[in-house]
Amino acid sequence: MPDKRSQQISIRDAGLEDLDAILKIENLCFSQDKAYPLNLFLYYLIIPEYHFFVAERGKTLSGFIIGGEREGADAWIITLDVHPSERKQGIGESLVYRLEGAFQEARIGRVRLQVGVRNISALNLYKKLGYCRISTLRAYYANNEDAYIMSKLIGK
Ligand SMILES: CC(C)(COP(=O)(O)OP(=O)(O)OC[C@H]1O[C@@H](n2cnc3c(N)ncnc32)[C@H](O)[C@@H]1OP(=O)(O)O)[C@@H](O)C(=O)NCCC(=O)NCCS
Repeated sequence: MPDKRSQQISIRDAGLEDLDAILKIENLCFSQDKAYPLNLFLYYLIIPEYHFFVAERGKTLSGFIIGGEREGADAWIITLDVHPSERKQGIGESLVYRLEGAFQEARIGRVRLQVGVRNISALNLYKKLGYCRISTLRAYYANNEDAYIMSKLIGK
C-alpha cells in the first residue's frame, strides 16, 4: 500500500459533506470548553462573508481554516485546525496562505486573529508568517487563559 504521506495535500472550499470530519478534527484540537459546535461551523459555511477552506490528502481531511471579512474593516482568522497526525508538514502554513490569498482578492489590507498565550505551536506559526502581537485580552478563555491579538498587513 502506498505511504499515506506520499499523497499531495490539496486545499479547496469546504462543503456540507465535510462537516462530520471537521467536527472530529475540532474535538481533537480543542477541549470541550473551547471547541466550536456543529451549528457554528454550519453558519460559517453558509454565510458569504466567511471563507472556509479544507486541506485534504486523497479523500481524507487533514485540516481546515475559517476567516471572515467585513467591508471597510480588518479581516479575521477565526480558527485553524490541523489533525494531530498531520501536523508539522506545512499544512497549517498552507491554509493560512490560502486564506490570505482570498482576503487579498477581496482587497483586504489587514488580517487579525486571537490566539491563546500558551498555544506555542500556533504562536510560532503566526510569527513565522509575519503576524505581530498588538494587544492582550486578559482571561479571554473559559479557563482564564489570556489571548493575544495579532495582526498582519497583507495589502498588495
Ligand atoms: C497550530 C497548528 C494549526 C499548526 O499546524 P501545522 O500544520 O502543524 O503547522 P505547520 O507544519 O504549517 O508549521 C508552521 C510553523 O508553525 C510552527 N509550529 C508548528 N507546530 C509547532 C510545534 N509543535 N512547536 C513549535 N512550533 C510549531 C513552526 O514555526 C512551524 O515552522 P517550521 O516547520 O519551519 O518550524 C496545529 O498545531 C493545530 O491544529 N493546533 C491545534 C489547534 C490550534 O491551536 N489552532 C490555532 C488556533 S489560533
